[in-house]
Amino acid sequence: NKAIYILAIESSCDDTSASVMCNNRTLSNVVATQKIHEEYGGVVPELASRAHQQNIVPVVHQALALANIDKKQLSAIAFTRGPGLMGSLLVGTSFAKSLSLGLNIPLIEVNHMQAHILSHFIEEENYKIPTFPFIAMTISGGHTQIVLVKNYFEMEVLGESLDDAVGEAYDKSAKILGLPYPGGPLVDKYAQLGNPKAFPFPKPKVDGLNFSFSGLKTSILYFIQRETKNNPNFITENRNDICASIQHTIVNILMDKLKKAVKQTGIKQIAIGGGVSANSGVRKALADAENKWGWTTYVPKFEYCTDNAAMIGIVGYLKYKEHDFSDQDITAQARYIL
Ligand code: KG4
Ligand code: ZN
Repeated sequence: NKAIYILAIESSCDDTSASVMCNNRTLSNVVATQKIHEEYGGVVPELASRAHQQNIVPVVHQALALANIDKKQLSAIAFTRGPGLMGSLLVGTSFAKSLSLGLNIPLIEVNHMQAHILSHFIEEENYKIPTFPFIAMTISGGHTQIVLVKNYFEMEVLGESLDDAVGEAYDKSAKILGLPYPGGPLVDKYAQLGNPKAFPFPKPKVDGLNFSFSGLKTSILYFIQRETKNNPNFITENRNDICASIQHTIVNILMDKLKKAVKQTGIKQIAIGGGVSANSGVRKALADAENKWGWTTYVPKFEYCTDNAAMIGIVGYLKYKEHDFSDQDITAQARYIL
């Protein structure tokens, strides 16, 4: 088994990341997180692309240095073609194309959503690898998707959010409570100290396996406005209970759809990914589902949940084995369906 070295680049949103993989193992996975967006309470696309431009060369250098690999040893360059913010994608795409041309090695385009799912195939001690077919749920600040994964490259989207992503719902709820961006992890932290049944929020009615989170955000906003009118200290006095109630509602929404997906497909293997996979409520609900309903669940190592280049690298490796290479005239795609 020959050693294939893939340099992977990810720049779809606000993290600049580069990774060197040796076959299905990670040698390095460097992520430069852009702090600038915190001041604005969300990702500012123009600022993101400027920061990628500044970060990409040092991040790639660091990934090669940590892997102890010279660029002349690389077998191919993999990059995120989409979906994502166009200005951000362009930086990684142009960089990858130039490097592939300069080193005269193959170029491999990668779909970011496919990469979130295939990150489960990165070999890691103490992590099991899913067997086909399985159901993948990608939950992050940018995505909410349930996918039937038949094979490495045969995937079918069963449902997705019609409006806000689940991480966005967390972050927007956190903002209403006056918590700093990104507020998801804080809501999770306080939720663990509160009563999940204190304040019932309505669950959206959405057909099939699709999701909607914008209504929840609005009902939280109206609820907080109403309560703080009566009691200006309502949030501080009830912070944990409010967070626990929000978390309870969101986790229920996610689990209801997963249950539906299991029923619809007969598949009880569930793999999750994306930043919201870090959520304690989601993890607990999945562990309970293993015990109650005999599901087998897969939660990747945290560094592979959030946006990272190693997940692009594993897809690069899988495509390399198929000689599935891209031409130099390939372009970034902000909308790139699975
Ligand atoms: O995958 P990610 O790093 O970036 C993309 O959005 O692609 O996900 C970030 C999202 C944010 O919305 C953040 O608030 C949310 O994941 N998040 C969490 C937790 N940790 C991160 N949401 C709820 N509970 C958490 N523990
Ligand atoms: Zn992502």
